[in-house]
Amino acid sequence: MASKFSRGIDGVVTWFNDRTPGLIPAYKKHMSEYYAPKNFNLWYYFGSLAMLVLVNQIVTGIFLTMHYKPSAAEAFASVEYIMRDVEWGWLIRYMHSTGASLFFVVVYLHMFRGLIYGSYQKPRELVWVLGVVIFLVLMAEAFMGYVLPWGQMSYWGAQVIINLFGTIPFIGPELTEWIRGDYLVADATLNRFFALHVIALPLVLLLLVVLHLGALHEVGSNNPDGVDIKKVKDPATGKPRDGIAFHPYYTVKDLFGAGFFLVLFAFIVFFAPTMGGWFLEWDNFIEANPMVTPSHIKPVWYFTPFYAMLRAIPHPLFGVIVMGGATMILFALPWLDRCKVRSIRYRPMLHKVLITLFCISFVVLGWLGAQSGSNAQKLVAQILTAYYFAFFILMPFWSAMGQTKAVPERVPSHD
Ligand code: HEM
Repeated sequence: MASKFSRGIDGVVTWFNDRTPGLIPAYKKHMSEYYAPKNFNLWYYFGSLAMLVLVNQIVTGIFLTMHYKPSAAEAFASVEYIMRDVEWGWLIRYMHSTGASLFFVVVYLHMFRGLIYGSYQKPRELVWVLGVVIFLVLMAEAFMGYVLPWGQMSYWGAQVIINLFGTIPFIGPELTEWIRGDYLVADATLNRFFALHVIALPLVLLLLVVLHLGALHEVGSNNPDGVDIKKVKDPATGKPRDGIAFHPYYTVKDLFGAGFFLVLFAFIVFFAPTMGGWFLEWDNFIEANPMVTPSHIKPVWYFTPFYAMLRAIPHPLFGVIVMGGATMILFALPWLDRCKVRSIRYRPMLHKVLITLFCISFVVLGWLGAQSGSNAQKLVAQILTAYYFAFFILMPFWSAMGQTKAVPERVPSHD
C-alpha cells in the first residue's frame, strides 16, 4: 500500500519535473540540499519569522481591502465598519496592525543578529545590502499604511513627514506638493498611498526577499561562531561536515519557532492590540481633522529612534540629513568593519562594550522619540545621536583594535 502511494507521489513529481525542469533542482538547492550550519541558535528564527509576518500582512491586507474605502470622506468610517460590523473584521484588522509592529520587532532582532555575528562581512555583503533596502521599503510601506485609517495621527504624521521633503533646497516646496498631489494632505494623498501600500510596495518587498534569500543561498549561511563551514567538507560526499540539510532539520526547527511566535502574536491580538498606545496610538481613534492639530505628534514606536535624531538637530535641513544618514550609513557597514573575526564570541572586550552601548543608545533614542522633547531630553538625544554616528564612522579604527580569540576550524560542540 505504502509503496503504491510513494510510487504515485514519484509519478506526480516526475510529471511536474518533465514539464518544469527547474522546479526540483530549485527545491534541492534551497531546501533539501541546502546545507546550513548545525549550530544555529535562537537568533536564527527571525528570518523565517519575518517571512511569516510578511505572509500574514499580505493575507490580512487582502481581506481588509475588501471592505476599506480609500477616500478621505469614507476611510475612517470604513475602518470602524470593519471593526464593528464586518464578520471577524476586528480580528483581521488587529492581526494586520499587530503584524505591522511585530514585523519591526522581528526585523530589528534579525538585524541585531547580523550585527553581533558579523553576518554582513565578506562574502555576505550583498545579503546585508539587500536587507537594508528591505528595511527602507518596509519603513515606507508602514508609513503609508498608517495614513490609511485616516485618524488624527495618520493625518498629522503624514503632514510632518511629507513636510520634511520641503527642507530640501530649491525643489522642496514643489516636491512636497508632488508627493501630496494637493496643497495639503488630502484625498489625492490617501489614494496614492493606498495604491502604493496595497500593491506597489508589497510587490517590491516580495521581490527583494527573493533576492535576499537568493544572495544568501549563493554564499551560504553564517552562524553564531562565524565559522566558514565550507572549509571542511566530507571527501566522499562533498558536503560540509558541519552542515545539515535545511529540510527537514531547519524547517522543523522554524515551525517550532513559528508556533511559539504565533502564541505571542495571538496573546497581543486578543488581550493588548493597542499595546498601551504603542502599536495603535490613542489619537488615531479620532477622525482626521485638518483644523485641529494634536498636542503631541509622534510616529509609531518603530520610527521613534530616527525621529529622536531628527528632533535632536535644531536646523530642519540638517535634521533631515542626519535622520536619512542614520539609515543610509547601514549600507556601508560591511566595508566599515575591519575585524578579522565575524562573531562577537571571538571579538575583543572593546567591541562587545561598543556594540552593547550602540544597542542601548538606539533603544533609548526610541524612547526619547516618543516623548514630548524637553531640553534635557534633546540634549541626551544629541549625545546618543553623536554616539550612533561615531560608532559607524570610527568603526574602521576601533574594529581593527584589540586582541581577537582564535576562531576554531570546525563548529564547536555545545553539548
Ligand atoms: C522582510 C524582511 C526580511 C526577511 C523576510 C528576511 C529573511 C531572511 C531569511 C529567511 C534569512 C535566512 C534565515 C536567517 O538567517 O535568519 C535571512 C538572512 C539574513 N538577513 Fe534577512 N530578511 C529580512 C530583512 C533583513 C534586513 C532588514 C537585514 C539587514 C539590514 C537582513 C540581513 C540578513 C543577513 C545578513 C542574513 C544572513 C544571516 C546569516 O547567515 O547569519 N535581513 N533573512
